[in-house]
Amino acid sequence: MFPSVDGRLTIFAVLPVSLVVITALRRFIENKQNKPSLPPGPVPLPLLGNVLSLNAKEPWLTYTEWRAAYGDVVFVRLLGQEVVVINSQRVAEALLDKRSRIYSDRPTIATVEPFGWSVAFVFAPYGDEWRLCRRLFHQTFRPDSALKFRPMQMRRAREMIVNLIDDSQHYHTHFATFSSSVAMSVVYDYQPSARDDPLIQIVEKAVEIGLKVVTPERAILLKLFPFLLRLPDWCWGSSIKRDAQISTNRMTEMMETSFRYTQQHMAENSVLGKCSMVTENLQRMEEQDQASRSLFEGTLKKAASTAIIGSYETTTSVLMIFALAMVLYPDVQRRAQAEIDSVTGRDRLPAFEDRASLPYVESVLRETLRWHPVAPLGVPHATSSDDIYNGFFIPKGATVIYNIWGISRDEKRYPEASSFIPERFLDVNGVLTDDDPAGYVFGLGRRGCPGRYAADASLWSAIVTMLATVDFSSARDDQGNVIDFTPQFLTGITRYLVFLCHCIRY
Ligand code: HEM
Repeated sequence: MFPSVDGRLTIFAVLPVSLVVITALRRFIENKQNKPSLPPGPVPLPLLGNVLSLNAKEPWLTYTEWRAAYGDVVFVRLLGQEVVVINSQRVAEALLDKRSRIYSDRPTIATVEPFGWSVAFVFAPYGDEWRLCRRLFHQTFRPDSALKFRPMQMRRAREMIVNLIDDSQHYHTHFATFSSSVAMSVVYDYQPSARDDPLIQIVEKAVEIGLKVVTPERAILLKLFPFLLRLPDWCWGSSIKRDAQISTNRMTEMMETSFRYTQQHMAENSVLGKCSMVTENLQRMEEQDQASRSLFEGTLKKAASTAIIGSYETTTSVLMIFALAMVLYPDVQRRAQAEIDSVTGRDRLPAFEDRASLPYVESVLRETLRWHPVAPLGVPHATSSDDIYNGFFIPKGATVIYNIWGISRDEKRYPEASSFIPERFLDVNGVLTDDDPAGYVFGLGRRGCPGRYAADASLWSAIVTMLATVDFSSARDDQGNVIDFTPQFLTGITRYLVFLCHCIRY
């Protein structure tokens, strides 16, 4: 029997649909069979993914817990975004460094542009503008060029001590002034005043809001509800728009004011502002036509302000961590002071030439970087093509997070990881081991921190000079009683310590 007309119509309608379904099913099964599986990770919820399981304030804690359950490479979904978390230095080296061709992009973070942080090339995609910024940076900050800053860094460290002894309550301000003054001197040849410098105040205010929000985890709200940036001012929830506007204005002010400073000094042919990253490059481009000049000037501005942003919070935070360690571990402070005294004889201040003779001080610096990493998740990378690692599929466009915190708290590598024990970096003969946290706290691969050599010298000069001259201890009230405190950390892309201490001449 032949099917009826209605029946034939049904067959004609069903046939193509079935074909589509069968083809899709076949592809799905083939994919399942051929494609390696994604790395293991927590089960995601529909649409939300793993967002609800994440500690929003300190996501590194959740990622570190997941390492125990899923291993060194964990796959996570934050809303629709695929995220790969790297939990070991070995895997980070294998991917971010050895396969840097694939792992050097940055993800789009919904807060970067609205909060004015696209002036920092830290967040720039892996493209031509980033390459030019990085080249400009490299000319100034590569290891052999950075050596030239050392006399200035040591001079600045000594000035900081004078201010610290004079006005010990505001140690945070002195650390911040020191950190910024090194970068401002190199980049703009700007010499900030010891206190209340107007440009340093501009930098401080500029980064204040953005530092807390320019991470993939903190950007989730804006990614989910981008209309928040368009709400009228009177509407509930519009504070995000206002903060974004304030942050953008301040970031622009920071970039333009410092750049103008150097341009003005060049125009006036002043001695100041003559020898800096900005001056040298502005002079180099004098030969170029107007169009190329303005293009290059825009990129130079970005590279220059990124150096200030990159130095300010990170170096200041490490010095705050150092001060906390000295308060909580007075024996470490005494042992480091004794080592310095044995080299200098207490009749001169330590200098860079003494560095090799001060292994204990070196171990204190290493432990400071490890104990509380100031950038616990670094800056996220992104993949620019599909990859397969250890049999796991890593998709193109995935955000790749490098869990520096987790590495620093690995109990197998660092027993009693939450304690400050510089001796872990010394062998039985007091010689430094090969384990240097600088190998992971500055990130890795083509996006690894280009300021790391300058940062290392700034930190060493500040730490050694403080140990040689001042004693850190708990703050006391008017009656001389120790004020109890619990260290508090403000979190965002960095982890920033707030605490009270007291320092007196050693
Ligand atoms: C203790 C001090 C510092 C720490 C812990 C630190 C840490 C980091 C980390 C973890 C990254 C991300 C690396 C990655 O994506 O793999 C980074 C990037 C960067 N840092 Fe630093 N940094 C410090 C000081 C500095 C200083 C002093 C400067 C400038 C003079 C600087 C400039 C930069 C720049 C420009 C980038 C972005 C590189 C890129 O995207 O290509 N940093 N830093």
